[in-house]
Amino acid sequence: MTSGSPNLNVPEGADLSGRLALGLESSCDETSAAVLRGGREILSLRTASQDHLHEIFGGVVPEVASRRHVEIFTTIVQEALDEASLGFRDLDLLALTPGPGLIGSLLVGVSAAKGYALALDLPLAAVNHLEGHLLAAFIHRPGEPPAAQDLFPTLGLIASGGHSDLVLMTAPGAYRTVAQTRDDAAGEALDKAARRLGLGYPGGPALERAARGGHPDAVAFPRPVAPDFDYSFSGLKSALVRYLQAHPLPDDPAALADLAASYQQAVVDSLVRQLERAARHFHARQVVLGGGVSANQVLRAAVEAAAEHLGLPAACPPLALCTDNAAGIAAAGWSQFTRRGPDALDFDVFSVLSLDA
Ligand code: KG4
Ligand code: ZN
Repeated sequence: MTSGSPNLNVPEGADLSGRLALGLESSCDETSAAVLRGGREILSLRTASQDHLHEIFGGVVPEVASRRHVEIFTTIVQEALDEASLGFRDLDLLALTPGPGLIGSLLVGVSAAKGYALALDLPLAAVNHLEGHLLAAFIHRPGEPPAAQDLFPTLGLIASGGHSDLVLMTAPGAYRTVAQTRDDAAGEALDKAARRLGLGYPGGPALERAARGGHPDAVAFPRPVAPDFDYSFSGLKSALVRYLQAHPLPDDPAALADLAASYQQAVVDSLVRQLERAARHFHARQVVLGGGVSANQVLRAAVEAAAEHLGLPAACPPLALCTDNAAGIAAAGWSQFTRRGPDALDFDVFSVLSLDA
């Protein structure tokens, strides 16, 4: 996706720490814009959720999502600039994602970014959406330290609605996906369970709320894993269906909390078991968490406990940077731009896109 030789428009060895990147994100159902300084310091973040539009359908409707992105995109960008007290002319870089994601949603952000780049004569960096999730823990507020350090190799767990990936980061921008899910993603497993339990939408946060105070060992769910370091959550989903065929849906909140907590714990245990095995196998020096499911407090605590057990630092992103957001895209875009210069404007969008070079 590069346009050839790096052209940073700055003299060799120049200080880039004050340079400003505008990140843009519209890969699924969140419209987001963020301004980062020096690639890691967050000056503003505006993210508009579409949950209220998709709730009645129980899942994201692609046509509805892309239409809403069109309606709100320029407003969100302007709000992010206003929040940082900046104008378009202050920017040094535009960062966006061409995938993976929903094609219609991606096209809105990509088209807008190409338009801004042409109109403002700004360089543009197109980065993998998953890299944004991986770098979220490296972003910090002015004056505060980041959760994650530049330690290589770092093992990242991306747990979202579409992915359950373990990714080995061996150098800036160098990624190797060492595990994926063989069927459902962790977020999907939580969303589907929440729907079965009548807990509302989006399912992950609803299940977490319902599980509060419940006993995680009340119902014996399996802890499925797949060969190598891969994941598999479809068997767990079936175990819940079988449980609900044999038992009525609890109407007592305490019993519902027990059921939700037991299911949530099974997802968390599966995620963390493979993370721990892979961290050992690949001699990771740090583990980082990313993706929407990393907002889950039970998962965050379990990852921290596992890392402590391994004697490694663990980094979880701030809650606002767990679900889809433009700050991670800006961080990834800045990193890529400083390594290999701007992208040409003729790139496409992709529903599936690997992180691995
Ligand atoms: O990263 P994300 O915003 O979008 C994708 O790229 O998929 O992740 C969305 C997923 C959904 O499955 C949602 O239910 C889950 O993240 N999620 C959570 C929590 N917040 C969001 N899962 C568990 N606990 C949460 N607090
Ligand atoms: Zn995502």
